Amino acid sequence: MGELMDTILYRRSIRRFDTRQISEWELEQILKAGLFAPIAGGGQRPIFVVCQDREINERLGKIKRANSHPRMATAASYVSRQQPSIADDPNIKNAFYDAPTVITMFGPKNFLFTPEDCAVAAENMMLSADALGIGSCYIGQGWPAFDDPYGQEILRQWDIPGDYYAVSQLLLGYPRPGDSHPEAKPRRAGRVIRIGQESKGR
Ligand SMILES: Cc1cc2nc3c(=O)[nH]c(=O)nc-3n(C[C@H](O)[C@H](O)[C@H](O)COP(=O)(O)O)c2cc1C
Repeated sequence: MGELMDTILYRRSIRRFDTRQISEWELEQILKAGLFAPIAGGGQRPIFVVCQDREINERLGKIKRANSHPRMATAASYVSRQQPSIADDPNIKNAFYDAPTVITMFGPKNFLFTPEDCAVAAENMMLSADALGIGSCYIGQGWPAFDDPYGQEILRQWDIPGDYYAVSQLLLGYPRPGDSHPEAKPRRAGRVIRIGQESKGR
């Protein structure tokens, strides 16, 4: 439990990546963690497209950025000071932050649990990435990256079934050398409600 808990507490979203690609072995471990995540009804419907083509990733990341309109950060409300997101810094033009590996998670449009299936797989992958010293960042709303003619062409090239959509992306890469590991924000109080607690402490 110690190591798992350490990984859970240590993981932070990484948005500044080294240019080096992650190794094949590391990628395989991370994908395996995603494929063994819980899945609604045991259906195994989602598809993970691992793109390590830097040009494609950059173009899709820029389309995603152009199609994203996050509520911009303020001095009091920001995403991350150490690893700014597109909501923190309007000068960031690539919503995938030049990550060398971008996994897009696709799932069926007409299946109720598609977003959850993709999210739990992503969390397994993020934790296993962290345990390997690899940085990751979850990118919600995967579909705007494909919402232009180039993106549509990429969907055809990748042979994505017409009844599937891009739920989200998972960025992977080594953290940029010299960067300090981001710190977690303090946890907001009052988010756990306990009912029927019989014993205290353990
Ligand atoms: C559903 C969801 C969507 C997210 N979308 C983005 C995103 O589009 N861009 C981004 O930079 N980070 C995104 N994140 C990462 C969050 O910003 C990050 O998890 C949060 O700020 C907490 O920081 P931490 O992951 O370092 O603990 C997303 C996270 C979740 C769970």
